[in-house]
Amino acid sequence: MSDEPSKVPQHVAVIMDGNGRWAKARGWPRLKGHQEGAKSLRAILRACRDHGVKYLTVYAFSSENWIRPKAEVSGLMSLLKTFLRKQEFELHENKVRLRMIGQMADLPGAVQQELQRVMAATAHYPDHHLILALSYGSRAEITAACRQIARKAKAGTLDPEKITDATVAQHLYLPDVPDPDLLIRTSGEMRISNFLLWQISYAELYVTPVLWPDFREPEFAAALADYAGRHRRFGDIK
Ligand code: IPE
Ligand code: IPE
Ligand code: MG
Repeated sequence: MSDEPSKVPQHVAVIMDGNGRWAKARGWPRLKGHQEGAKSLRAILRACRDHGVKYLTVYAFSSENWIRPKAEVSGLMSLLKTFLRKQEFELHENKVRLRMIGQMADLPGAVQQELQRVMAATAHYPDHHLILALSYGSRAEITAACRQIARKAKAGTLDPEKITDATVAQHLYLPDVPDPDLLIRTSGEMRISNFLLWQISYAELYVTPVLWPDFREPEFAAALADYAGRHRRFGDIK
């Protein structure tokens, strides 16, 4: 056991799903589910600090979510703005660096400004990272990386024969962030929905039927305990 890597994942990624169903079950509007889901995010961020998880990446809005009804999209965008304002104090208190992956330019101007402001204000914290995936799609991320690599090859600054998987990884949104060790999806759906396709190659998967607004510290601790019992082989036979 002693030669095993750490039993606490360094990086946890979460597909925060089930807000709408949580609200629907109570006869409430979907936005109420998203509001309650924001509370779960606060709780899980605290739990990461307490358990020693350094990176938390959360899927907050996918590149596909833009097709939802206008009122839901704008409700989510204003919730995001509120979340950033409310969370800022705690980010500083716990020395958490806020970062984002996705198409920043797709977001409303006010959300972009708030994001840029809080990201800049917390950029000096080295140890704990909260990464929001916003207007994020993994295929778009990989496609953009291909485009950049192709440009360099065309310009003659990169030899196509020397392109390795590390080259591709270096052209993704946050090349300094290690790959997720654990991917959690709430609400029981057994799919990835265009999230971190490259980065989760060897992540341990944990799907729980619990809906995101009900996913709090005890549920997170259960996911970590499950992870601690996994045997990661990375293709080896040990
Ligand atoms: C996840 O909850 C939050 C976002 C996708 C923004 P959903 O809104 O997808 O909730 P369900 O899946 O409809 O229950
Ligand atoms: C994935 O959830 C995206 C987020 C959690 C932000 P969705 O609810 O959009 O995924 P699908 O449509 O069920 O695959
Ligand atoms: Mg959903």
